[in-house]
Amino acid sequence: MSERVIIFDTTLRDGEQSPGASMNTGEKLRLAIQLEKLGVDVIEAGFPAASEGDLEAVSRIAARLKQAEVAALARASKHDIDEAWKAIQHAAKPRIHTFIATSDIHLEFKLRMRRDEVVAAAVEAVAYAKSLTDNVEFSAEDGSRSDRDFLCRIFEAVIAAGATTINLPDTVGYAIPQEYAELVAYVIAHTPNSRQAVFSVHCHNDLGLATANTIAAIGAGARQAEVTINGIGERAGNTSLEEVVMALHTRSNLMAVESNIRTRYIHPTSRLVSMITGIIVQPNKAIVGANAFAHEAGIHQDGVLKNPMTYEIMKPETVGLTTNTLVLGKHSGRHALRSHLRTMGYDLSNDELALIFKKFKELADKKKQVVDEDLEVIVTEGILRTSDVFKLDYLQVIAGNTVLPMASVRLDINGRQVQGAGYGNGPIDATFNTIAKLAGTSSELLRFSVSALTGGTDAQGEVTVRLRENALVALGKGADPDIITASAKAYVNGLNRLEYLKANPVRDAAVL
Ligand code: KIV
Ligand code: ZN
Repeated sequence: MSERVIIFDTTLRDGEQSPGASMNTGEKLRLAIQLEKLGVDVIEAGFPAASEGDLEAVSRIAARLKQAEVAALARASKHDIDEAWKAIQHAAKPRIHTFIATSDIHLEFKLRMRRDEVVAAAVEAVAYAKSLTDNVEFSAEDGSRSDRDFLCRIFEAVIAAGATTINLPDTVGYAIPQEYAELVAYVIAHTPNSRQAVFSVHCHNDLGLATANTIAAIGAGARQAEVTINGIGERAGNTSLEEVVMALHTRSNLMAVESNIRTRYIHPTSRLVSMITGIIVQPNKAIVGANAFAHEAGIHQDGVLKNPMTYEIMKPETVGLTTNTLVLGKHSGRHALRSHLRTMGYDLSNDELALIFKKFKELADKKKQVVDEDLEVIVTEGILRTSDVFKLDYLQVIAGNTVLPMASVRLDINGRQVQGAGYGNGPIDATFNTIAKLAGTSSELLRFSVSALTGGTDAQGEVTVRLRENALVALGKGADPDIITASAKAYVNGLNRLEYLKANPVRDAAVL
C-alpha cells in the first residue's frame, strides 16, 4: 500500500511574497476555501506578525476551514508565536510554524548568533508553541546550506521540545536533486528521535530545480511537501503543487507515495490564483500552462487522434481541463451552465450561479460562443475576486483616426460616485488618465500587457498592469471582450491592490 505525502500549501504566505502579488482578505479567504476543496492537507494562511492585514486574513481563514489544518508562520520569538496563535487559536486544526536560520552565513551576518544560541532560541520557541497547541512545525531556514550535523543536533533538540514536523528548506534554491535527497536521508538517519516527527521539504526555484528537488527528497523519506499553486513565490518562486502532485500521480509505478489532492480541481485553482494575484501563468508551464496539452506538430496531432496516450502522459480531464470545450450560447439555460461549471470544478451556490448566469448572458450577447476559458474568467472575476475601494461603474470611449481619443468614466469610490472625462494619446491612455484623475492616484504604470484568451476577433482580452506608488508595487488584472474595458478593469484592480497594501503595511521590513 502506498504511503501518503502531506501537501502543505503556502500560496497564501510564501506565494504572496511574489513581487506585486498582494491579495486582500476576501481574496485570501476565497483561495483558502478553494485550496481546501482541492484537498490540501495544510494551508499556510499567512504570517500574522508581519501585518495587521495578515493577522486578520489568517483569523478569518482559521475560523472558516474545517478539513484542512491552518498554519501560521512565526519567527522563533514569543511575540511572533503569540500573534500566530491569536490568529489560529479557533481553527478546527491549528498549526504553529516557527523558524530560525541554521546556515553559518545566516548566523554570522543576519542573526549574529552562535550555534548554541540558535539551538536555545529554537527550543524555547518550539516549547512555547507546544504549550499552545500540539501541532508544531519547526523550519531550519537555509537548511540546504547548513552543516548537516548541526541540523541533526537542532532537529533532535526541537523534536524533544515537541515539534511534530521538521522542515528542511532549500531557501535560496541552491540544491541539486541528488545532493538534497542525500541531505534529507542523512538527517533522518542521524537525528536520533527522527521517527517522532514528519520530515518536510520546502524548495525555491532559483535554478529551476524546485520540483525535482522535492520529488528527490520524497524518494529519500520526506513525507511533507511545501508547495504553491503555479509555483508562485519569492524570486523564481516555490515548488509548484501541480507539478509535484502530478509527478507522484503519473509515475506511481516508481513513487509509492500518494497525495490527497483532488486533481480535477487543479486547473480551476490555478486560474483563480492567476486571476487574483495578477501573475500570468507562462504558456509552457507544466500541467497548467495554456500549451501544456496543446499539440502543434502534425505528427503529434495525428498520434493523439489515434490514441491520446501516444503523446499525452496525463489526461487533461485529470487536472480539470475539460476536453469538452463545448460551448454554451445565448440560448443555453441556467441548468446547462451549472452542470458545465461543475465539470470544470466550480460548485456554485444559487446566488453565485444567478450572478454568473447574468454575466454569461451578457457575454453570450456579445460573443457567439462562450468557451471554458470565458467561463473561467466570468467566475473568477465575478465571484472569486473581491473588489474594495474602487469600482468601475461606467466607461465610454471615443476613438478613431480622426478624433482625439476621449474617455468618460464613472467610478464608485467607497460607495461615492464620481465621474469625469479626459483625453489621451489613445483610447487606453485616455481611460487610464481619467481613472487616475478621479481616483486621485499618484501611482506610476510600470507595465501593461494584453493577451487574447481564445482565438478569433471576438475573443476576450486579458490585461495585466503593474503599478508602483512609492515603495509599493501591485499587479492588476481584468478581462473583457472589449480590450479597453478589460484595461480599465485591470487598472482599477491594480489601484485596489495598492490601497490594500497601503492599509496593511508590513510591520517589520526585515521579516523575511
Ligand atoms: O524559504 C524558506 O526558508 C521559508 C521558511 C520560512 C520555511 O519560507
Ligand atoms: Zn520559502
